[in-house]
Amino acid sequence: MNESDGSRTRVATGIAGLDEMLGGGFPSGHVVLVTGLPGTGKTCLGLQYLVHGATHGERGVFLSLEEDVGPLLESARQFRWPVDALVKDGTLKVLRIDPKETRQSLHRIQGELGRELTSLKAQRIVVDSVSLLNMLSDDEPSRRQTLFALADACRESAATTVLTAEADPIHPEVSRDGLSEYIADGVILLGYRAGADGHRVGLALRILKMRRTSHVRTVQPYSIGAAGLTVDARAVDFGAP
Ligand SMILES: Nc1ncnc2c1ncn2[C@@H]1O[C@H](COP(=O)(O)OP(=O)(O)OP(=O)(O)O)[C@@H](O)[C@H]1O
Ligand SMILES: [Mg+2]
Repeated sequence: MNESDGSRTRVATGIAGLDEMLGGGFPSGHVVLVTGLPGTGKTCLGLQYLVHGATHGERGVFLSLEEDVGPLLESARQFRWPVDALVKDGTLKVLRIDPKETRQSLHRIQGELGRELTSLKAQRIVVDSVSLLNMLSDDEPSRRQTLFALADACRESAATTVLTAEADPIHPEVSRDGLSEYIADGVILLGYRAGADGHRVGLALRILKMRRTSHVRTVQPYSIGAAGLTVDARAVDFGAP
């Protein structure tokens, strides 16, 4: 695998249009941040990415700091993704870290999580969402340390990772913590498009960065339908995000 140019192995997201924009998928081993306002489909994108891999035999781990396992699997079932079978045969694992159990969760993220992920031999990891990590720490240095520890744990496991993050409500082109972008190898921004009257008229995404590869930089519309996210990679002339 050559890391100095764009020839890294690609990890297909299975999301129509997004893989086209990425030139085949995420570069293998990358930590990719998916940031967006509530309801823009971050959790859905993460699940879809894992299910696509798992149905092709790639082991995936969904690390949830936000939703409980039950509702998460229920959302996936609504898209008719075969999550129950994948969980049953061990290709898909959903782990819950409860930010309310502060000490225990911090200990796990800064300690054994790296070993846990490595031993699971996951090829794909999703962490939903890193914004909730802020609840675990009182001060900025501790927040940074936790975020770095989490990204390190994912990188050490050699998986290709999606971290989701809440966008800042005032400046939705950046994450709330303003730090995740720098830790990640790639950033995908999910957002709302506004019509001339300022009303939200649809969803659009942009790849802000993807280290060591070229990619489309335009804003492309996407929708969330019965089968999950679909990106229109060919549409032209779209505004925000
Ligand atoms: N089964 C479904 N069919 C069609 N659209 C759906 C379905 N399930 C969810 N959606 C759409 O996806 C949106 C929520 O997606 P998701 O939960 O992934 O967003 P999110 O960015 O993770 O939000 P949050 O920041 O609140 O966690 C819903 O608002 C709805 O528009
Ligand atoms: Mg979510």
